[in-house]
Amino acid sequence: MTSKKFQLTNPANGRSTELAAHQGSVGPDALDISALLKDQGVFTYDPGFMATAATASAITYIDGDAGVLLYRGYPIEQLAQHSNFLEVSYLLQKGELPSSKALALFTTSISRHTMLNEWIMRLYRGFHHDAHPMAMVATIVASLAAFYHDSTDIYDDRHRVIFSHRMIAKLPTIAAAAYKHALGQPHMYPRNDLDYTGNLLQMLFAVPCESYAVDPLHAKALDLLFILHADHEQNASTSTVRLAGSTGCNPYTAMSAGVSALWGPAHGGANEAVVDMLEKIGDVSRVPEFLARVKDSKGGVRLMGFGHRVYKNFDPRATIIREMCHKVLGRLGQSDNPLFELALKLEEVALKDDYFISRKLYPNVDFYSGIIYRAVGIPRSMFTVMFAIARTAGWVAHWQEMIADPEMRIARPRQLYTGPTRRDYVPVSKR
Ligand code: ACO
Repeated sequence: MTSKKFQLTNPANGRSTELAAHQGSVGPDALDISALLKDQGVFTYDPGFMATAATASAITYIDGDAGVLLYRGYPIEQLAQHSNFLEVSYLLQKGELPSSKALALFTTSISRHTMLNEWIMRLYRGFHHDAHPMAMVATIVASLAAFYHDSTDIYDDRHRVIFSHRMIAKLPTIAAAAYKHALGQPHMYPRNDLDYTGNLLQMLFAVPCESYAVDPLHAKALDLLFILHADHEQNASTSTVRLAGSTGCNPYTAMSAGVSALWGPAHGGANEAVVDMLEKIGDVSRVPEFLARVKDSKGGVRLMGFGHRVYKNFDPRATIIREMCHKVLGRLGQSDNPLFELALKLEEVALKDDYFISRKLYPNVDFYSGIIYRAVGIPRSMFTVMFAIARTAGWVAHWQEMIADPEMRIARPRQLYTGPTRRDYVPVSKR
């Protein structure tokens, strides 16, 4: 990181502080304000981190105005066209595309870690049949901390690698077991002769009494969605993983915190909320009425799957997924899929409307993803779980980068205190 200097002068006392503006390889500079409290006795105030870079990172770059997303420098469009999810996972962690030998070793290692300890499988029995799968996944991921003690020395490189491979390998098994639990069907063991998403599909949809053939189109569609969801720099769930992990906690519990953060409808839960919304709208004729409710400031209704903190032009992932919807639905003989038609109409009308234009609101990654998940048979309650499987690749890459960073310290934000000033305790009899 090279530095430019900025001068900040406090008008109250004329004292100056020199602030270094760190330059990244591309993107806005970041003012280093870490000396402000010591020099000037003030904090900075930025609720929601609108203009705060919480860390330096070399993993993913987003240019929100230009609609650019790069993993380790590679454009998402190229990775979506030529790569696969496991290669992308390797790239995110290691920083470079693997040689064919390195990729084969990585793929083998992932496939050797797909099973869950049988005692973990018993934990599912404690859940009610209607538990949301995200609740089960967050719990089971945290519980890995109670089983895999051989990979929790966060300062040991080898432990960090084993932990990361385990997370990527076991998430599909954890997710599918949550689904089977809700159905009351027997859990299906992983099959290491299948590829990553083929194995996930068989764990979700196979039953022990029948043979099951993976549909390669379904597996390919999921793999593409997983590439697109694999990382997104310092998003809410990744920042949660980093914040929890900065305490030095067991890494499985940091991942569980990430799963929980992802679940919210403003983040990964949006894919489920979009399909709920489309079903409630029901018909293209009701689009104007629905958008009027969204625009009514008192209505509290949002167009789910629209808007993004960083993208202010278009989300390149949404563009790829929209194209993919056409292809997948066409090949499945569902070209006239009513939900897709409705989503296209909503997008068309919203993008011509001044409310959305003036606020720079565009479809995000989750506007169309649920339509593909549905088309390949994934139930709605599992949409955000699919996102969690994919984002695990990003979480482990960021966690590894953070732990290896010599500048790492506990993430401990400060606050602007607005509560009562000092006052004396009043005994209950006198209140
Ligand atoms: N529908 C209607 N209005 C919206 C929407 C939306 N989806 N998103 C933002 N706005 C409006 C806000 O009401 C606000 O308007 P105002 O200036 O008149 O008050 C303005 O646009 C700015 O919105 P903020 O909420 O301040 O933007 P922020 O960057 O904090 O939020 C977010 C981004 C959470 C993604 C928001 O756009 C949203 O809630 N979208 C819907 C949920 C969603 O799709 N989330 C998935 C995001 S992608 C992901 O995490 C995988």
